[in-house]
Amino acid sequence: MMEPFRFHLFVCTQQKPEGVPSCLASGSLAVLGALDREIQARDLGHDVQVTTCGCMGLCDEGPVMVIYPAGVWYRHVKASDVAEIVGTHLGDGKPVERLVWKDAAAMKTMAIEHGEKYRAAMAARDKAGVLPDRLDQMIRGYMPSRCLLTALELDVFSAVGEGSNDEKIATTIHANARATAMLLNALVSLGLLTKSGDTYTNTPESARFFAQGSKDNHRHGLLHVANIWHRWSTLTDAVRGGTRILISRDDTPGWTRDFIAAMQRNAKDRAGLVVKALGTTGVRRILDLGGGSGAYSIAFAKASPEICCEILDVPEVVPLTTEYVSQAGVSAQVKLRAGDMLHGDFGLGYDLILLNAICHMFSEEQNRDIFRRAHRALAGNGRLVVQDFILNPEKTGPQHAALFSLNMLVSTDSGASYSECEYTEWMKAADFSAVNRIDLHGPSSLIVGIKTGL
Ligand SMILES: C[S@@+](CC[C@H](N)C(=O)[O-])C[C@H]1O[C@@H](n2cnc3c(N)ncnc32)[C@H](O)[C@@H]1O
Ligand code: FES
Repeated sequence: MMEPFRFHLFVCTQQKPEGVPSCLASGSLAVLGALDREIQARDLGHDVQVTTCGCMGLCDEGPVMVIYPAGVWYRHVKASDVAEIVGTHLGDGKPVERLVWKDAAAMKTMAIEHGEKYRAAMAARDKAGVLPDRLDQMIRGYMPSRCLLTALELDVFSAVGEGSNDEKIATTIHANARATAMLLNALVSLGLLTKSGDTYTNTPESARFFAQGSKDNHRHGLLHVANIWHRWSTLTDAVRGGTRILISRDDTPGWTRDFIAAMQRNAKDRAGLVVKALGTTGVRRILDLGGGSGAYSIAFAKASPEICCEILDVPEVVPLTTEYVSQAGVSAQVKLRAGDMLHGDFGLGYDLILLNAICHMFSEEQNRDIFRRAHRALAGNGRLVVQDFILNPEKTGPQHAALFSLNMLVSTDSGASYSECEYTEWMKAADFSAVNRIDLHGPSSLIVGIKTGL
């Protein structure tokens, strides 16, 4: 039999309810991380494939790992064993005898008994009408999310800094000491902080992504998610009433800045993909409708010195866009226009008009109107580009697009996610001659309409 790799490792990463033994609870993620580091460090990536897998029925002995093609089983693997396993087994081809589990008969009995017990437990739960774990987790899924969002709102990770106790942290974040301690302990339970004695410390991930002073701090962009969370709590009323419910938090002073920071976070990496997918051949003038942080115009300007972009956005966003454009050093090529894309002429002679993450904010009628005015503003062979989360024809998926539609229900007057058929139909009705879809890596796709050459 042909094996594509010299060794194939299966590492069990099964999670089970709290209190039930599992490889995940016994530390298989740390083993996985150590394996990856060690394999890269020894340059064995071309010889070894690592695959995570579900329960193998040997949960009391976890973390469990099997190495094929020989079928060598390891149990109770610790991150500190990994260097030896990689060096001796994967490097020199000799299994680490002290960790190998050789009692095949015992393993088989244990796995079969586990399977029988599992099936019996599932049947008993089913008979008793117990809510399935999947549904229970979905229903309570907001708790960890809310806990992290509150920590971000209160800037807890910056207050933890290099390590601090609950009283000092509560003083720094201007919060109640007892409640702060409860929040900090919950963050420890979620693996976002560690605690030793009275001292709480950020995990390397929390320090990197959530704390002040780190260049990769995402807190501002993530605060937009925290803002949106308050809107999601109006979903029931929004579904009853058919549109968003206005909440007082909408006008918090940092709202616009957080929103544009979130847009920048999403767009920064995607902009390069979009430039690549559309190309710059024949592109000289771009109109970027609702350009937000300007990420797409910036990427086009950097891709070719001959490209000039105009970003149209609302007056309160334009000063923020100006900052991003100037930081990127492309102010000579990217101009800003304050205005309302729902009204008025866009101008004339553009080669490309961009609608990145825009159409979902508006109703069908508003989008049809934007497409008509965009068609007029394009030069011959010019392209109108919609980037969005595109629904399937039944509008039941992908899940991200279907959930995002509700995000628009709670956040806008008449926005929604739309399907490819809808965008195509609106573009054709606006006189675009050819309409194509380009799928990018990730959740959003492009719908490109071409105006017939004149
Ligand atoms: C979801 S963001 C997308 C930003 C950017 N295109 C991107 O993909 O990163 C929507 C942008 O449209 C702007 N916007 C919303 N309504 C607008 C309107 N009526 N006229 C002009 N811009 C608008 C917002 O201020 C925001 O910058
Ligand atoms: S959870 Fe890993 S073997 Fe069961």
